[in-house]
Amino acid sequence: MNEITEMLGIRYPVIQGAMNPISNPEMVAAVSEAGGFGLLATGLKELEAVRQEIKAVQQLTDKPFGINIQTWTPTALNLAKISAEMALSAVTLSAGSPVEVCDYLKDKGVKSLAVVPNVANAVKSENAGVDAIIAEGTESGGVQGRNSVSTLVLVPMVVDVVNVPVLAAGGIGDARGFRAALALGAKGVQIGTRFIASQECIAHPKVKTVLCQAKETETVLFAQSQRTLSRILRTPLVEKLLAAPDRFDRKTFTANQNEAWFTGNLDLGFVSFGQVAGLIKEIKSVKAIIEEIVS
Ligand SMILES: Cc1cc2nc3c(=O)[nH]c(=O)nc-3n(C[C@H](O)[C@H](O)[C@H](O)COP(=O)(O)O)c2cc1C
Repeated sequence: MNEITEMLGIRYPVIQGAMNPISNPEMVAAVSEAGGFGLLATGLKELEAVRQEIKAVQQLTDKPFGINIQTWTPTALNLAKISAEMALSAVTLSAGSPVEVCDYLKDKGVKSLAVVPNVANAVKSENAGVDAIIAEGTESGGVQGRNSVSTLVLVPMVVDVVNVPVLAAGGIGDARGFRAALALGAKGVQIGTRFIASQECIAHPKVKTVLCQAKETETVLFAQSQRTLSRILRTPLVEKLLAAPDRFDRKTFTANQNEAWFTGNLDLGFVSFGQVAGLIKEIKSVKAIIEEIVS
């Protein structure tokens, strides 16, 4: 037991990072059943769709789980209301200021965990009243800040300046990464990419195979817009777009990511993996992944 397992009511201090669009209810429930903390991604989904996904998880498990709220989205506060109404244990707050959602959830029994890419945001989040900080290094999959810091640098720096518990995210794929995170002062970990290569993940089997074959050098930070970067798999399509960035329609490209995840067609869209893809060689059940990580 530590502060994180106690706070979230879970067995192991392992959070499955929300992964838009692939953290499906089956994966989330499997993580929570295995003793970790599953998280649904919400992105720009309709509120009713989020409600249905939460219900689907609740039908599969009675263990605690949560949702991720990207606080820049117009529905952020409504998602917080849904979290309280549907009695979720916790939410993670990313991609924006946690202040408004955190304030709203304060007396609702739902814990707030802020995902931060640097020390300044960690301090701001603690001042906003969050219950824990997830310090996410640039090796992670998903959206990134512009000034990249690695997990190894970020986690101890955040641990040194905040008083709430810190979790490490980015680059953790096995027991060695888990133990390293604890050695840096983290009380737990948030893991994304490793769970893509799980039997329960909804991603197309071809995407999982590509992940198991990817080298650690095969991801790249890609500018989806003026403000956002994503760490994505470097495919022939991505190489072409990187060579001629002005000639491509970023909106279409983003829209096509669902196509890539669900049909495995990487000539059409992109998939986001963290650098830890290089370490992942096998598709396993969520339970086997978690048990190996905490072993
Ligand atoms: C495909 C994908 C989608 C992601 N989408 C989100 C998201 O919607 N919200 C969020 O806060 N983090 C998102 N992340 C980040 C993860 O929640 C997690 O912090 C990250 O994957 C940890 O690093 P790792 O990939 O090295 O394990 C995403 C990551 C991946 C790989």
